Amino acid sequence: MILKVARLGHPVVRAACDLIPPAALKSREVQKFLDDMTDTMREYQGVGLAANQVHEGLRAAVAEVREDASAVRKTPAVPLTVLVNPEIVERSEELVDGWEGCLSVPGFRGLVPRHRWVRVKALSRTGEPLDLRAEDFFARILQHECDHLEGKVYLDRMAGLRTLSFTEEFDRFGPPK
Ligand code: NI
Repeated sequence: MILKVARLGHPVVRAACDLIPPAALKSREVQKFLDDMTDTMREYQGVGLAANQVHEGLRAAVAEVREDASAVRKTPAVPLTVLVNPEIVERSEELVDGWEGCLSVPGFRGLVPRHRWVRVKALSRTGEPLDLRAEDFFARILQHECDHLEGKVYLDRMAGLRTLSFTEEFDRFGPPK
């Protein structure tokens, strides 16, 4: 089921999310919600989605870069990844700039510095511990989604607003100088 996406200005986007008790992963309701998050991300051609972007203040995020999006973005594909209670436990010193957009800030793109790689601990949707190291675009997605769960959006991470562009103008004129 496709869920309604909360946009910037809705308080849920700015609120920190609650941990999901591992026992709750046994409930059909929570499992359905994780499926609905995946459906919603795919419907709107996102590469990631956090639970509070669909009005649930829970610590869950999904990420996926499908083959078609991977070709357009010239970045490796990422299989569907469902993260429960994700936490960044290690990060590179090195920061890299990259363009980001967000389903909760529709129509815009901005340049955001992020750690080049991160190590994330989380639970899988069945409650198994996950420990993954991601780099480049996948690391960027994970940082963007973990920020959401703290009530932060990418605009908060930009060095300044000068690079903020409407996507249509960005595609027409290229990245702002
Ligand atoms: Ni976002």
